[in-house]
Amino acid sequence: MGALLKFGALLLAAVAACVAWEDGDVWDYDGHKLKDSDFLALWPLPQKVQSSAVSFQLSASRFQFTHAEGSSAGSDCSILQNAFRRYFDYIFGFTKKDRDQRRRNAAGSEVLELQVAITSPDAECDGFPSLTSDESYELSVDQPSAVLKAPKVWGALRGLETFSQLVYEDAYDVIAMTNVLNFSVFPDFPRFAHRGVLLDSSRHYLPLKVILANLEAMAMNKYNVFHWHISDDQSFPYVSRMFPDLSQKGSYHPYTHVYTPADVKMVIEFARMRGIRVIAEFDTPGHTQSWGFGQKDLLTPCYTGSSPSGTYGPVNPILNTTYDFMAGFFKEISTVFPDAYVHLGGDEVDFSCWKSNPDIQKFMDQQGFGKDYSKLESFYIQRLLDIVSSTDKGYMVWQEVFDNGVKLNQKTVVEVWKSSELEEELYNVTGAGYTTILSAPWYLDYISYGQDWQNYYKVEPLTFKGTDAQKKLVIGGEACLWGEYVDASNLTPRLWPRASAVAERLWSDQGVRDISDAYVRLVQHRCRMVERGIPAEPLFTGYCRHEYSGV
Ligand SMILES: *[C@@H]1O[C@H](CO)[C@@H](O)[C@H](O)[C@H]1NC(C)=O
Ligand SMILES: *[C@@H]1O[C@H](CO)[C@@H](O)[C@H](O)[C@H]1NC(C)=O
Ligand SMILES: *[C@@H]1O[C@H](CO)[C@@H](O)[C@H](O)[C@H]1NC(C)=O
Repeated sequence: MGALLKFGALLLAAVAACVAWEDGDVWDYDGHKLKDSDFLALWPLPQKVQSSAVSFQLSASRFQFTHAEGSSAGSDCSILQNAFRRYFDYIFGFTKKDRDQRRRNAAGSEVLELQVAITSPDAECDGFPSLTSDESYELSVDQPSAVLKAPKVWGALRGLETFSQLVYEDAYDVIAMTNVLNFSVFPDFPRFAHRGVLLDSSRHYLPLKVILANLEAMAMNKYNVFHWHISDDQSFPYVSRMFPDLSQKGSYHPYTHVYTPADVKMVIEFARMRGIRVIAEFDTPGHTQSWGFGQKDLLTPCYTGSSPSGTYGPVNPILNTTYDFMAGFFKEISTVFPDAYVHLGGDEVDFSCWKSNPDIQKFMDQQGFGKDYSKLESFYIQRLLDIVSSTDKGYMVWQEVFDNGVKLNQKTVVEVWKSSELEEELYNVTGAGYTTILSAPWYLDYISYGQDWQNYYKVEPLTFKGTDAQKKLVIGGEACLWGEYVDASNLTPRLWPRASAVAERLWSDQGVRDISDAYVRLVQHRCRMVERGIPAEPLFTGYCRHEYSGV
């Protein structure tokens, strides 16, 4: 017992250790019953695990989370206190009444506490997670005390999730008891630092509750970035203190379909509690129709022949007032969103309106841009980047900004989203020395019949040609759920567990690729999300012990 095992050997260990187990059975694609095991409920799979066949009990009336002696975080650490409460509920959600007395095993087989030790002097309890946050942790489960050690609270949060995933209800008594296997996870840590989910609150307004529920689900999958694509052509729901007309006139409804400063604060704090960064995206110069209603002269007037057609195109890049506005707006954004990065968009700029406008043509001539409108786009982006840099923020941009040759500072993160020539793009972006994240293979708004999670799962971000130094510049990826066909009614089941596949790809070791092993674990992980109130859709036929009933 207790030999160091890697993920591959995990299945064997699990089979050897498995007791008679009747509930939560899973079935393979041909209807064969798969061997179930508690070992296999982990998602995303930790880097390395050590296991033994011994199982322990937990009891709602006796178990507690504690701060280990010498930990740099105590009961004044709200991140941990909050997480203790959350995970206690998850672990004992179905056994709160504690009817496990009569089924207690022999003395000494019960885990009475999980001691949490933050091992570095600054636990970062009052901080915000960042790109460089340490999310590592180690966990060893034994009786009477299990121990979770992490240099920072961020790792402790990941470790608490892992601990909670080791808990199951055993086969004898449906509600009586939760057990945990003696299962030590040696330093676990993410493979990639940036593991994001993009939600789009412009194509459809997403009520706060839905955003918070999905932050909760993100934490269950060890995601650490919420990429908030907050505005687009269709609506501008962000309530700006400095420019209130933007949402007053540009949202679907100025009171019911907006995010007030208090709402935004709540999202950021809720995310912080779960070790999740909130990166806001204010996409310009394209995707900005909604901005035009509340900010006069911001958008370019389009022309038919020699007269204005009454329609508008991208942000008008030739007016000084545009840059005055952007300077004020992004100054506000830099204080509202604490993350070191803001996403500036820069994708899919339609040049036809610019081409139609005689003033723009004149400006193009003056600047010597000829007929190359991507130069005009670059001109705009360049000035925007200077504005944002002066607020001390780093920025993220969609790949077009790089493709068009805009001069970027070295801190820029380029988000690669086009599937065609993906590997070449990664090669080029990293070859130029920029950090990059990958979202091209993970556009979850595209749906299809069957188990498309497998396609997301099979992606390997580092197959492109390039030096090790180039590959180090790939700092992660994002699952993107664009909102054209998504609102609160279908967002969560469409996102989960499909985004879970991406989560494991971004957290676990590169060698974790076995689809059938993943299937067994993901089925259980999905049921666990369901039990925690997340309406994650099924992977295939089968059932959960506690079905979703939150209608
Ligand atoms: C649990 O695992 C730890 C670490 O491998 C080991 O030292 C301990 O003896 C195990 N406990 C039991 C009851 O097997
Ligand atoms: C715009 O600003 C530039 C530089 O600050 C200045 O030279 C130019 O005259 C301004 N244009 C207008 C129309 O005010
Ligand atoms: C990558 O860079 C090369 C050389 O500049 C260029 O020819 C090619 O089109 C670029 N590839 C992509 C996908 O942009």
